[in-house]
Amino acid sequence: MNKNSEQISWWRRFLKSMTKAHELGTEKDIMLDHDYDGIRELDNVLPPWWLYGFYITIAISIFYYTQVFFNSEKYSQVKEYATEVAEGKAAVEQYKLDNPELFDDANIVALTEDTNIQKGKELFTSKTCTACHLDDLGGSIGPNLTDKEWILGGGIKNIFNTIAKGGRPGKGMIAWEAIISREERIQLASYIIFMQGTQPANPKAPEGDVWTGNKSKN
Ligand code: HEC
Repeated sequence: MNKNSEQISWWRRFLKSMTKAHELGTEKDIMLDHDYDGIRELDNVLPPWWLYGFYITIAISIFYYTQVFFNSEKYSQVKEYATEVAEGKAAVEQYKLDNPELFDDANIVALTEDTNIQKGKELFTSKTCTACHLDDLGGSIGPNLTDKEWILGGGIKNIFNTIAKGGRPGKGMIAWEAIISREERIQLASYIIFMQGTQPANPKAPEGDVWTGNKSKN
């Protein structure tokens, strides 16, 4: 016997031991007595490959059961949950610390990206700001928003605050915070900052005091 045929016969023996298939032609040895309307049944043994798989799952289930229910120091779903929630909360806090301008009104800075300015411009029309401040922000019922004079304070924070809380009672500038989201109010305020120094067609006469703070930050 050469090496090849030795290997083949080893493989054959292995397959046979894993399947324990009954020899063809001798089925009547394991034929059961029952006859179900002409259908007969062979009493084959369970194939060992299947049986071993079954034993392995039993072994794993015992290991799993003991680990989950009696080794709760190491594998506790409750603890795992608590740890992950704590990690999540810490990540949220860290994000707040890293991005203060997104969460704390005291830290708002003017947005400068085109998309935000464009969004602010759209909102200025869609939220009817133009009705009182005009398309070019020159002012009519409301004051000119392009000049250096501000009634309620210039700079991103004051402007954001005015949009949120409104102007002086009875003047017509309502508090918009219930209607316009925080992000949109920042976009509106950033658009107004962006429009500083532009020349409206019919600017309304200056009202209020000249604002000298840093317009993008203060
Ligand atoms: C019904 C008219 C009206 C509408 C609509 C309106 N405003 Fe005004 N706005 C005013 C008036 C009037 C004032 C002045 C308030 C005061 O004197 O206290 C003002 C003031 C302001 C100021 C402060 C100006 C300053 O000199 O301090 C800002 C900023 C402003 N408006 C932005 C907006 C934005 C943004 C919108 C749209 C969401 C808007 N306004 C919609 C009438 C309006």
